[in-house]
Amino acid sequence: MSKIKVLVTGASGLVGSRFIELFSTHFDFVTPNYPEFDMTNAVQMHEVVEKVNPDWIVNFAAFTDVNATELQAGDENGPAWQANVEGVRHLTSAFKSPNFIQISTDMVFPGDLSQPGPYSETEVPPETKENLTWYGWTKNRAEKIVQERGGTILRIIYPVRAHFDSKLDYLRGALQKYVNGQMYPLFFDQQICIAFIDQIAETLTKIIETDSHGVFHCASDTTTPYELITYVVDQLGADASIIKSASIAEFLKTQTNPNRYPVWGGLKVVLTEEALETHFSTWQTVVEYLIGQGLSLPKV
Ligand SMILES: NC(=O)c1ccc[n+]([C@@H]2O[C@H](COP(=O)([O-])OP(=O)(O)OC[C@H]3O[C@@H](n4cnc5c(N)ncnc54)[C@H](OP(=O)(O)O)[C@@H]3O)[C@@H](O)[C@H]2O)c1
Repeated sequence: MSKIKVLVTGASGLVGSRFIELFSTHFDFVTPNYPEFDMTNAVQMHEVVEKVNPDWIVNFAAFTDVNATELQAGDENGPAWQANVEGVRHLTSAFKSPNFIQISTDMVFPGDLSQPGPYSETEVPPETKENLTWYGWTKNRAEKIVQERGGTILRIIYPVRAHFDSKLDYLRGALQKYVNGQMYPLFFDQQICIAFIDQIAETLTKIIETDSHGVFHCASDTTTPYELITYVVDQLGADASIIKSASIAEFLKTQTNPNRYPVWGGLKVVLTEEALETHFSTWQTVVEYLIGQGLSLPKV
């Protein structure tokens, strides 16, 4: 039987590259790369989709720098809107099939008391950008485009893996700060989850192989930055007692852009676990897996 052909965008990135690494013997992957494959170029998207003629598209590609995106707030000509919204519009209009999976984020929700998380798969993201970051709003609008065309959403949150030199994730970024002696106080009252990238890749494989469509989540249970990072540092045999804690509620009183710091974030996974007959690990087990795969304190 011939393999399912999957066009993967953003395959050089933190998450997409691991999907390719783990499942390249499983699927017939086509992985065009920026700038030869630029989502902001509508003509190019039509040409690539016509030439490749994939069975499925998994769209990891995005402008992902949240701070840089905030500097573009309100600018629909800016690179973040162009890649994250117009790019998705171009790609979905070129690909007429519903077999389109959009990788999305909990940041399509505000993460504040106007609509607190953790969010279930059936929770509807807001229709206004009021309480969102500009990045969250671009991803929110992209979800809308994909859903209007019958495509699938897979939301993830703080994706983590044991190794990836090109980009630090939430845990490896914190460990780098720890060994550099630059660790900032960590919030004990901010609700977050992490997503084990290997489980994101497995979830995508399940969605494709079972021909499933809808909204899915991949995440651990909830924790806080302070609980998570002190646990990882401790598990790696280093001194976690030097890490200070802080209150995000107090911190937000000093900020002019509170949307940038969701307090009540997180994703629930019950419906995804039922629909795909899968199970997502607790955050402690994810840390255990990562350490088993060689996660360690970086060299100074
Ligand atoms: N990382 C997170 O914390 C996080 C959390 C939740 C959701 N997500 C979502 O997960 C997905 C993957 O994130 P990631 O962290 O793996 O991203 P990443 O490492 O920043 O990689 C982004 C990828 O998108 C490509 N890209 C950017 N602009 C493009 C364009 N105009 N045309 C074509 N390709 C373009 C990049 O190509 P180049 O390398 O050539 O620039 C790269 O391959 C994104 O959709 C993101 O929104 C990420």
